[in-house]
Amino acid sequence: MNIAILCSGGDVSGMNPALKRFVEYAKEKSLTPYFIYDGYEGLIDNNINEANYSDVAGIITRGGTKIGSARSKRFMESKYRKIAKKNLDQLEIGMLLVLGGDGSFRGLDIFYKEHGVKFCAIPSTIDNDINGTDYCLGVDSALNIIKTSIDAIRDTASSFSRAFVIETMGRDCGFLALISHLTSGSELCLIPEIEYDLTKYEVEFKKQIQNGRRYFIAIVSEGIQQESQEIADWFEKKIGIEARVSILGHIQRGGNPTVKDRLMAYKFVVNAIDTLLDGREESVICYDRFGFNFKSIEEVTGKKKELDKELLSYL
Ligand code: F6P
Repeated sequence: MNIAILCSGGDVSGMNPALKRFVEYAKEKSLTPYFIYDGYEGLIDNNINEANYSDVAGIITRGGTKIGSARSKRFMESKYRKIAKKNLDQLEIGMLLVLGGDGSFRGLDIFYKEHGVKFCAIPSTIDNDINGTDYCLGVDSALNIIKTSIDAIRDTASSFSRAFVIETMGRDCGFLALISHLTSGSELCLIPEIEYDLTKYEVEFKKQIQNGRRYFIAIVSEGIQQESQEIADWFEKKIGIEARVSILGHIQRGGNPTVKDRLMAYKFVVNAIDTLLDGREESVICYDRFGFNFKSIEEVTGKKKELDKELLSYL
């Protein structure tokens, strides 16, 4: 039996460890592993090759994905999905692992309904915004990059008596900003899930400066309504402290995968292959405090993920 893997949407650190485990575990289970390059684009363009141990040697330490990732508009059209199915049939590939976010999963669901290609989807996005799973591959590596960046910015902020507005990724989800705020001891955290009113911080922040505070760290998520520069302007005009903006950007998506992401990659892949071999044909593998479980694509894409209420209560 032949099985293939592809990465779709924003890449994350942890995809390469997942590819490595995929090749090893598929072979352990007497399956022939295939790589599909550049996401659904490669599936349509027949950019598919058998994978071997030599293809994954040494990649466990590297961020990104060796097989490339892409966002594919063409895969949303049925004529291209037909071509994709023909390409899989030619190589007798009947099972698919897809690493990606919820956008990538929607196309997959349609593909299954039209052509019956069995799949298991592995939530992989630094945004951690997929409903039904507490963890998405890549989140821990991104959080650690953010932590290192904030720690470094704190050095210059404290030396120079400035406020720093640090913008984290997350499209419309404040998870990265929230966790980074709680674990970096920042003074302010703004996320799209919570309405805010800057005026309510003014008296307190000014008092803190009078009492000797030399700097502020504010963590803001990219999805909030204001530009980060506007928050910095507010610090200068209303709090009376020089301010700078630091947009962390795509560094959050790269770098050496953390131990947690390497282990999660390992477990996600093993459980995903096992479930396909057990006969579960169309699922998303999810993770919560009870361990791994399997959900339908409708379930994970049908509802916006809510942030943990306990964590929000600390804001
Ligand atoms: O979904 C992952 C993510 O990194 C988001 O946090 C961000 O908004 C978006 O992708 C950036 O996309 P691109 O790499 O296309 O600029």
